[in-house]
Amino acid sequence: MNPPIQEKSFQISRRSFLSKCAIAAAATGLPVWFIERNAAFAAEAAAGGSGPLSPNDRPGVALIGCGGQGTYDALNASGYGDILAVCDVNQEHLDAAGQKFTKEGKTPDKYTDFRKVIERDDIHIIVQATPDHWHTLVNIAAANAKKDIYGEKPLTLTVDEGRHVIKAVRKNKIVFQTGTQQRSDRRFRLACELVRNGRIGKLQEVNVWVPGGLRAGPFPTGQVPPPTLNFDFWLGQAPQVEYMKERCGNTFRWWWDYAGGPVTDWGAHHNDIARWGIGQDGPISVEASVITGPIPGGFTTPSEFSATLTWAGNITQTVKTTLDDSPFGQVLKADGQRNGIKFIGADGWIWVNRDEITASRKELLTEPLPDNAIHLEVSHNHMRNFFDCVRSRKNPIASVENGHRSAVIGHLIGIALRTGKKFGWDPTAEKFTGPDAKEGNRQLAREMRKPYNYHFAT
Ligand SMILES: NC(=O)c1ccc[n+]([C@@H]2O[C@H](COP(=O)([O-])OP(=O)(O)OC[C@H]3O[C@@H](n4cnc5c(N)ncnc54)[C@H](O)[C@@H]3O)[C@@H](O)[C@H]2O)c1
Repeated sequence: MNPPIQEKSFQISRRSFLSKCAIAAAATGLPVWFIERNAAFAAEAAAGGSGPLSPNDRPGVALIGCGGQGTYDALNASGYGDILAVCDVNQEHLDAAGQKFTKEGKTPDKYTDFRKVIERDDIHIIVQATPDHWHTLVNIAAANAKKDIYGEKPLTLTVDEGRHVIKAVRKNKIVFQTGTQQRSDRRFRLACELVRNGRIGKLQEVNVWVPGGLRAGPFPTGQVPPPTLNFDFWLGQAPQVEYMKERCGNTFRWWWDYAGGPVTDWGAHHNDIARWGIGQDGPISVEASVITGPIPGGFTTPSEFSATLTWAGNITQTVKTTLDDSPFGQVLKADGQRNGIKFIGADGWIWVNRDEITASRKELLTEPLPDNAIHLEVSHNHMRNFFDCVRSRKNPIASVENGHRSAVIGHLIGIALRTGKKFGWDPTAEKFTGPDAKEGNRQLAREMRKPYNYHFAT
């Protein structure tokens, strides 16, 4: 009989597999058992036929919103599809994107009006990274044109917008990935999986720290928009105001009219992870207070705040700002905590951010979960997960519903900050409850400047 060659070679490759896992574990700080399980999953996925795309299997992609994040997203998308068109209301950003995505001498077509982009039959996918106040109208128009969408976080500017986006995505049966890429990061998944499996005992508290926002102003009045910018189309649904360059750069995030400040910036990521770990649709109450308010005539969102939300099952979530990771290196009165998320249970805590995962006892991480544990959905690459789903027509890991429910947390905190009120919240009906409910519910939607509305461009 021939010797069991296969078995022998398996033993060798198994040994080398284990040693590779040990090296990866040492390099990432992740436990060996988790690395092994991930590698096994990746091998299974590859064997399952999702494998590399053929040269003909490259959908046409258009980028709408060619700023910092859009360019980054489109670069990722260009690994799986062809960037055929780019669109921006800022000619300088548009030209830079055209140049960046020129391939083999062919420059993508350049547009200043996204409606023209979504008319094209050879565009199958929209990568959308406009400022937050534009997300919804572009997403709805693209969904109605049956384009699949990779849409940046936060999904929306308001709670009401989220309901409309979900409706458009589901009605048109398109694939939608929200740009909350921490869902595709194994550290965050490990933390959430351990919490969901009771590793730290009954979950009691979740502390979220987000980098504080920029505080500046007053800004000079009488500024004139550069000829390279269509300021009116940049404003879109937002109120008509005098041009200030501080509105339209990537500092749009520090104005209520276009975004929500720190809580919808980094908060869209960390609140998504908090919700993943808690395993519920949404909180049941919210209160928030401004710590450092805006300067009159400057940015309008508070640079520092503190919020407390409660969830069913006596879980408290706090969301606070910190100087850590603040992209602007400006001195704020930080509370000294680091950018990230801490899950605290009756039997210990787990801390996680983009760089590391730690716990109150190392065994909380190193002890493998049993086979029958709750396993959360696995994605190792957010953009790849989206393109896989474009082909399989499955729901990506950051589905539109996930994007909406996690964005809602930021919107609730924003409303609590603007009103100074404490509200109850019904996460199923998506309405405020309690004595001040009426005032809160009035802020679930915003009036759009004419001619913008949910049917614009559809
Ligand atoms: N996932 C992440 O980690 C991450 C990181 C940064 C930003 N973001 C998100 O990406 C989005 C963009 O952020 P940014 O930092 O790149 O901002 P940015 O200002 O650099 O880019 C936005 C671009 O959209 C353009 N734009 C505005 N209105 C438009 C319209 N009607 N049609 C076409 N283009 C339009 C602007 O001119 C600008 O070029 C935001 O929603 C932000 O929250 C996500």
